[in-house]
Amino acid sequence: MRAKVAVGLVMMLVLFDLPVTARSRQSQSIDRRVEALLSQMTLEEKVGQVHQLFYFTQFMKPEVVEPDIRAGKIGSLLFLTDPVLINRFQKIAVENSRLKIPLLFGFDVIHGFHTIFPVPLAMASSWDPALVEQAQTIAAREARAVGIHWTFAPMVDIARDPRWGRIVEGAGEDPFLGSRMAAAHVRGFQGTDPSSPDRVLACMKHFAGYGAGNGGRDYDSAYIADAELYNVYLPPFKAAVDAGVGSAMSAYMDLNDVPATGNAFLLRDVLRKQWGFKGFVVSDAEAVGNLVTHGFAEDKSDAAYRAFTAGVDLEMSFPGNPIASAYASSLTKLIAEGRVTKAQLDEAVRRILAAKFKLGLFENPYVDESRVAAIHNNPEHRRLARVAAQRSTVLLRNDGNLLPLAKGDPKSVAVIGPLADSKRDIRGSWSFVDDINSAVTVLEGIRAKVGSSVKVEFAPGVDIARVYPSPFGIIQGPRSAPWTETQKRAEFEKAVSLARSSDVVVMVLGEHEDMSGEAASQSSIELPGRQLELLKTISGLGKPLVLVLINGRPLDISWAASNVSAILEAWHPGTEGGNAIADILYGDATPGGKLPVTWPRSAAQIPIYYAHNITQEPETKKNFTSRYWDIPSSPLYPFGYGLSYTTFSFSNLRVSKPEIKVGESTEVSVDVENTGRRAGEEVAQLYIHQRYGSASRPVRELKGFERVALAPGQKKTVRFTLGKSELTYWSGAVREWVQEPAVFDLWVGSDATASLTTTLRVVKR
Ligand code: BGC
Repeated sequence: MRAKVAVGLVMMLVLFDLPVTARSRQSQSIDRRVEALLSQMTLEEKVGQVHQLFYFTQFMKPEVVEPDIRAGKIGSLLFLTDPVLINRFQKIAVENSRLKIPLLFGFDVIHGFHTIFPVPLAMASSWDPALVEQAQTIAAREARAVGIHWTFAPMVDIARDPRWGRIVEGAGEDPFLGSRMAAAHVRGFQGTDPSSPDRVLACMKHFAGYGAGNGGRDYDSAYIADAELYNVYLPPFKAAVDAGVGSAMSAYMDLNDVPATGNAFLLRDVLRKQWGFKGFVVSDAEAVGNLVTHGFAEDKSDAAYRAFTAGVDLEMSFPGNPIASAYASSLTKLIAEGRVTKAQLDEAVRRILAAKFKLGLFENPYVDESRVAAIHNNPEHRRLARVAAQRSTVLLRNDGNLLPLAKGDPKSVAVIGPLADSKRDIRGSWSFVDDINSAVTVLEGIRAKVGSSVKVEFAPGVDIARVYPSPFGIIQGPRSAPWTETQKRAEFEKAVSLARSSDVVVMVLGEHEDMSGEAASQSSIELPGRQLELLKTISGLGKPLVLVLINGRPLDISWAASNVSAILEAWHPGTEGGNAIADILYGDATPGGKLPVTWPRSAAQIPIYYAHNITQEPETKKNFTSRYWDIPSSPLYPFGYGLSYTTFSFSNLRVSKPEIKVGESTEVSVDVENTGRRAGEEVAQLYIHQRYGSASRPVRELKGFERVALAPGQKKTVRFTLGKSELTYWSGAVREWVQEPAVFDLWVGSDATASLTTTLRVVKR
């Protein structure tokens, strides 16, 4: 097998960075190979290629799938991570099946595989697409090392409701930031050539509108008007397509009463016709069979018909589930009845085979088991995970410059809270196969940082738990039993007295990893359990107090925001999280992340996002009355917000051509200066507003950003281009993409409330 791997490697090197003509020759040759294979396939074998099954090592035996692999009835498996088993199944497919078509192995490599990176919402907080690309390059390398060819990522769903647990898996609320992040994830996973032995095929998901579910409830129906769909929810998907994403996953929920998995408007009109997407579409798990549950399809066969003809090429199923494998059980019959044509089936099979050829699976089907450990344990992976976690933290408050702390003084540090020493929770959801013991908690990170001369002690203080358990508990294992009432009282008291006897207190509060993610929606966004009570009690002691948040969504921290001197949002920062947080707390790294979401004061403000339209009562008006009379209408922290240990100023905002014609571009530039005494990084953000047009436009929209590193006193000029793509929008009035002559307000600054402003006039061509 090693020899095969070596031959494969040489081939990959030759193919890498091919010039365009060679590339098109390569795709022509793939087309020829696909057609040659297709012409030899039986109907049953074709149906096999559109059939994907979960395989859970924990509960399943190889014998359950092996006969079907041999018979060519399964084209793809997901959730396998053991290279030995992967090679075993692959061997049956490529050596014992009639046509020797390799299996495609998929897995949710969301934010790392062996080395866990910050959760995607955190990575978006870095506002650093290059970093995201590097992180996913490593995730791809680690996953491909065990034989995984395909990741179900990135999730590019726009999320404007923090009650929705899956907000943690995306890049937040904004289509521009979301698009830049989507493209970076795709580039990281796929590189320039997915057949390379350290790359995987990416899958943009969940197409489309999943983040807009009613009430933030997972899987709930979404009602999205066309203008909002085109301007807000679809752009990150389009960006992923433009970046060459190889596959797409259809979403679970109803979009405007048509389930996304049976939605021909999404899958045919938008994805194929409007965008020219050439990859294949996989259903989300059991989303085909569930078309019956939705009250959309009559029965399983009708579900297969509706999903397949809408444009879902491959069905993802749980073996043994009565609603599973609708394609495998119905497509042959549907073809005999003439409801599905052979040509339609060929089209789907073509796309899947093309992906297998592109991934190099026919030349290089196996994985070299002996190389896995070396690839996984490359110290460079952990180094980058630490940098990624540092760069993803967002400093929300730092009154009196409490941070950074000095390393040798204070002499005693109390590290308190249920998340302070939890290896499981520092990693975040979708961390299934990494070595949990190698994750570094905040407590461990602080201890390693300050050394033995400082006393660092820990008390959890309170325990937290979901009211209804997470379905992922089956994979992640149970959590420890809830404390008894006596334990609860004792632990609370212990934490308070530890705080009382320490010089400084670091409280690490937030959420368990399974409190966000899939099937993890929440009605309230308050700190779970008695965490706020503990925070208030300890804050009452008057000690210097730092709050570190480990969580997957914005939480209601209104009380802390005005009572706790320093607040650091770390999200679920991954394997190296504890070290990275210690780096930030002690000034070995400077926070520079920015919020990718508008942070509400409480769940009562949801939905709240910065790019809303202006009402007849603009917020800028004195005695503004449009929102609520009982709470401020502004969020707790605006989109794009985040502090540093230094300060910055923006000046000299200018537009190279203050008047342009429709279709032309102009350059916007601004000077950013580090006005403090430490080195730091600022994210310059450009927002626009179109003053009038065929439709109302948002009060502000992000249209450019750049994270800049500045030494104390250093000044740099940041330049952005504003042109057709930034100034075009989908008008609900014209029902088309338009770029209109109008006056635009521009702002550049450090968040969505930036005040430095100028204008741009766009005139008729
Ligand atoms: C999730 C997808 C995921 C799939 C496979 C589904 O429940 O919605 O995001 O990729 O499972 O694990």
